[in-house]
Amino acid sequence: MTSSNSRESIVIVGAGIIGLNVASILADQGLGQYVTVIAEHLSGDTSINYTSPWAGANFSAISGHDANALRWDRTGYQHLTRLAKQVGAESFVQQTPSTEYWDDKVSDDKMQSLSDYLHDFQIIPTGELPEGVASGLKYTTVTINAPEHIKFLHRRLKDNHGVRFLRKKIADIKDAYISPKTEVVFNCTGNASAHLVGVEDPKCYPTRGQIVLVKAPEVHENVMRHGRDYVTYIIPRPYSNGNVVLGGYMQKGVGTSDTFSHETESIMKRTSELSSEVRDNKAEVLAVLAGLRPSREGGARVEAVGYQVRGQDRLLVHNYGAGGTGFQAGYGMAFDAVARAKSVLDRLSSAADQAKL
Ligand SMILES: Cc1cc2nc3c(=O)[nH]c(=O)nc-3n(C[C@H](O)[C@H](O)[C@H](O)COP(=O)(O)OP(=O)(O)OC[C@H]3O[C@@H](n4cnc5c(N)ncnc54)[C@H](O)[C@@H]3O)c2cc1C
Ligand SMILES: *[C@@H]1O[C@H](CO)[C@@H](O)[C@H](O)[C@H]1NC(C)=O
Ligand SMILES: *[C@@H]1O[C@H](CO)[C@@H](O)[C@H](O)[C@H]1NC(C)=O
Ligand SMILES: *[C@@H]1O[C@H](CO)[C@@H](O)[C@H](O)[C@H]1NC(C)=O
Ligand SMILES: *[C@@H]1O[C@H](CO)[C@@H](O)[C@H](O)[C@H]1NC(C)=O
Repeated sequence: MTSSNSRESIVIVGAGIIGLNVASILADQGLGQYVTVIAEHLSGDTSINYTSPWAGANFSAISGHDANALRWDRTGYQHLTRLAKQVGAESFVQQTPSTEYWDDKVSDDKMQSLSDYLHDFQIIPTGELPEGVASGLKYTTVTINAPEHIKFLHRRLKDNHGVRFLRKKIADIKDAYISPKTEVVFNCTGNASAHLVGVEDPKCYPTRGQIVLVKAPEVHENVMRHGRDYVTYIIPRPYSNGNVVLGGYMQKGVGTSDTFSHETESIMKRTSELSSEVRDNKAEVLAVLAGLRPSREGGARVEAVGYQVRGQDRLLVHNYGAGGTGFQAGYGMAFDAVARAKSVLDRLSSAADQAKL
């Protein structure tokens, strides 16, 4: 083809779970050596502006009826289950029994959609539900050791697929077009999208969560209660020597990284009420943490737009606003984001094939 490919052909801004999933799908398509990931924060870092290491994380049946969200969840569940089965210890993903409760009744449609793909799916009979709970189900979920999982993805991309990582903060999305050869930029900047020059999406807002990390090796079950105005959960963290994440909060529009002792007390009380495994075993508190879910009115934005840089027509693919579901929905979102760039990627792939001849 006209121009030869280079490591600057494809740029991904952001090294959270969203950017790393996009890089993984490109790598699986054989395009790893044309990818540069640019990010202010990389796996191993901690910052209130880097949400991914703070996640629980688990798969939960929290999505509503939005067709995108349901499809992303299903793709993500299947992908994470495959990782758990094939490279569980290495990727820090594990199949785990889970119970979920809702204070408001869940629609038959949603239960039907979930029953289609969740393993060991079982609706809990009304007579066996705890007080105040209207719907409940049991199934086999996947739990993810979030900070270790993103390190695994980063390592695999760098060592096995030739993806380059550059630590850099960009002031304007146009600076992501680092070379005249940059054909496409994936914007995976999470909550920063609200302020990044060139993006400034007013629909973005943070949803704060506080979690308590405890040592409780006796706790094996993932439990989630979706309350009317609260959320309580227990997530055993896979391959962590018995660490368990207790939560939580979903505070819309709250952006502080501070943690609060009254919230810790509330989390300890609510999780003990919810799980006999937590109640019956003394949990040693290791840390109290807060993170900001990169939320967006109307749901995540996965969309390609034309973009002019230095007089050239380029592509910009937005992929941000995953809110509370970046780990469970991120792979499906990345799949769609990559599909939006198909014409450019096909051109890069065929140039790569030519080069091999
Ligand atoms: C307490 C808590 C529990 C959660 N539990 C779960 C769960 O169980 N399951 C689940 O699916 N999800 C969960 N989430 C949500 C999940 O963590 C997020 O959806 C996900 O981390 C978002 O990933 P991201 O890649 O979009 O953003 P981030 O991880 O924040 O990454 C953003 C990246 O963009 C970079 N960046 C931003 N601006 C710039 C710039 N100008 N220049 C260069 N780089 C830039 C940053 O440095 C970073 O690398 C939870 C979140 C919290 C807070
Ligand atoms: C997080 O990002 C905001 C917006 O870019 C910035 O003002 C703030 O200083 C950052 N906080 C930290 C702790 O880096
Ligand atoms: C469980 O998963 C849901 C959806 O991904 C998420 O919103 C919630 O915060 C998770 N719970 C924990 C403890 O991480
Ligand atoms: C996240 O969004 C909030 C509200 O829009 C903002 O105050 C905060 O600075 C943002 N954080 C980052 C890192 O951009
Ligand atoms: C990239 O996405 C962020 C939201 O994550 C948005 O604020 C920003 O404007 C986007 N950048 C561009 C160039 O569109």
